[in-house]
Formats: sequence, structure tokens, C-alpha cells
Amino acid sequence: MSSDSSSLQSSVVMNEAVQTLRDGGLVAFPTETVYGLGADANNPEAIKHIFTAKGRPSSHPLIVHLAAPDQFDQAKVDWMPVLAPWVRDLSEDALKLINTFWPGPLTLVFKKDKRVLTELTGGQDTVAIRAPAHPIAQELLRKFKGGVVAPSANRFGKVSPTSAADVRDEFEDLLDLMILDGGDCEVGIESTIIDLSSGDRAVLLRPGLITPNEILLKTAIKVYLPGEGDINEQDAVLPRVSGSLRAHYAPTTPLRMYASGRVLDALSEFPDMKSQVAVAVWDSDSSLSEDGHPSVHFEEVIVPSESTVFASRLYRTLRDLDQQGWDLILFPEPPAGEEWDGVRDRLQRACFGSGPSSSSHANS
Ligand code: TXA
Ligand code: MG
Repeated sequence: MSSDSSSLQSSVVMNEAVQTLRDGGLVAFPTETVYGLGADANNPEAIKHIFTAKGRPSSHPLIVHLAAPDQFDQAKVDWMPVLAPWVRDLSEDALKLINTFWPGPLTLVFKKDKRVLTELTGGQDTVAIRAPAHPIAQELLRKFKGGVVAPSANRFGKVSPTSAADVRDEFEDLLDLMILDGGDCEVGIESTIIDLSSGDRAVLLRPGLITPNEILLKTAIKVYLPGEGDINEQDAVLPRVSGSLRAHYAPTTPLRMYASGRVLDALSEFPDMKSQVAVAVWDSDSSLSEDGHPSVHFEEVIVPSESTVFASRLYRTLRDLDQQGWDLILFPEPPAGEEWDGVRDRLQRACFGSGPSSSSHANS
């Protein structure tokens, strides 16, 4: 009985969300990576609204989210009709990546079809596409029957949201923003982005849960790092991935990383005795509260030493610590290894952009 009424309620809410998108409104929704701020990818006004709501420069392109085709027969899933209105052509490598990883936390950049609005591509001739795996995202996309642009549902340069409450905190002033609540995001950091638009090689634009090594193992496709091989001058200048700005994903509290085993050094470099410092420590490390630490007041926050669990909790932890009024947050440097590239990337940018004056860096 109660499950009937809750599924009835959720279908009412879902229909309202679909109608909101059709009317040109914004709908925040869960994906397996982070929450997205969605709008109709064929409505220029709705797209403009996304940029103003986020405070994001219009030159930073958006990802188009698409529904997966019906999967009556897994072996014969045909993505062509889904992708035809968006991409100019699909290489064999593209199809391999799609068939292996979609729906899932992988975004692919293609040469765009001429129908794709330049408002969403920041004027570029490429388009980023992803089919998210989260069932609520898929249901919304299926019922909407169109592409939905969805940047992470945070203000430009700030920490991405991994729960519906985070989205509400980010957009307190957007009172009529509809938010679909799908609980906490499983992956916790944004999708891996691979650029296929050059036609000859796959290039990693943003590291994420799906790594180049996993791609190589499952598809035999080599993913190049940016700068590996030829990059033409234009590619180097365009802000193709806003997350590639040096400052991004940043809390307001100053955030720094410390080298393995050097937390006491990091603390003693922090001279103000009245300071309150939150120190993240690996769950595999013994406690820091031994003798020899400086008289700075600090408290330990235990963080997971397994990379995917760490990723799933990173933004949650940063947001929570940011709201607790610390003067400084210290995080351990992630270990070497490709599986840590996604979180290392986010932490480095978060450190650079952190602090009360971060917005000047973040918007640079
Ligand atoms: O996991 C995700 O990808 C999340 C969820 C909501 O799907 N979305 C997300 O969107 O992270 P956003 O806008 O916060 O980041 C997308 C990145 C941007 O940095 C943008 O510059 C890049 O994708 N991007 C979009 N279109 C591109 C293109 N045509 N070429 C290169 N990069 C592109
Ligand atoms: Mg983002």
C-alpha cells in the first residue's frame, strides 16, 4: 500500500519534472556521479538560464544527457538513432566505448551535428554526450524524449553536489527550482571525459572513475593524455573543460594537502595558535594524536583509503567541513596510481581555489 502511494507520488513528481523541462524550466536530478542542473538541450532560453543560475561563462560548454535505447535484447542495443541528432559521425572506437560503458559515468566528445545549438557548445564545433546510469536520470530522459543539458548543480567553481540537500544549499535563491531526490550519488566525482572529436585518437579531458587503463583492458582503445602527441594551438587556448581551470570544486575554507607522514610539519607551518584545523587522515593510518604535535587545535577526520570509496565521499566531506567553521582543512595527498587520478585532480583544484577570496581564481 505505502509503496503504491510512493510510486504514484514519484510518477506525479516525474511528470511535473518532464513538464517543467518542456516549459523551458530547470530541473535538478541525481546521476550516479553528481547531481545535474537540467534544461531542454533544444531550448536556447533555458540553456541561457543554466549559465546565469550557475554564474558560468557562456564559453564553457555543457554536456547533453541522453536516454539509453530500450534494451529488449542487450546484444542488439542500437545507439545510432539516439545519437543521430547530436553527432556528425560515430567511429568504431566510439561505438566500442558506448557499448562498453553506457549508460555510465563516461562522457564522450564528438564533432557535433549541425542541429546542436551553439549556445550549449560554447560556440565550438564539438558536443559532449553522456548517458547517465542513475534510474531517476534515465526515467526523466526517457519520458522527456529529448536531450537534457546538465552541468553539475553547483555555482561555478564550487564543490559539486552529491545529494538533493546540497543542491538546495547551492541554489537557495532559486525558490522554484525543482529537485528530484535520488539520495546520495554513488560515484561522487564527475564523469570521465574522453575527446573523440579529432577522429584519430581518444584524449582524456577529465579523469574520473573510468580510467584509461580500464578502457584499454575492456576495449583495447588507448587513451592519450592531453599534451601527449599533437595538440593544435586552438585546443590549448579554448576553455574546453571548465573543470580544467586550475581552481575549481573549491570550498570557502582554505584547503591544503600534506605529504604522507608529514601532517605535523604541515601543522607547524601554520603559525596561528588559535587556529582550529580539521585534519583528514587515512582510515589505515594510526592516530595522529600522539606527542610532538604543535599547539594548534586540530581534530582528525577519518577518510577511506580505498580510491572509489574516497571519491564517493570526497565532496560530502568537503561540504560538511566547510560548514563547520574550521580555519584550515588538511587532506592527505592521494597515493600514486591511476585509480587516484580523479580525486587527485579534484583535490588539487579545490586547494588552489579554496579560501574566502577563491571566486577571483575560480572565474579566471
Ligand atoms: O558527471 C558529470 O559529467 C556531471 C553530471 C551532472 O552528468 N556533469 C558535469 O557537467 O560535470 P559540468 O558542466 O559541471 O562539466 C562538464 C565539463 C565542463 O567542464 C565542460 O567544459 C566540458 O564538460 N565539456 C562540455 N562540452 C565539451 C566539449 N564540446 N568539448 C570539451 N569539453 C566539453
Ligand atoms: Mg561542474
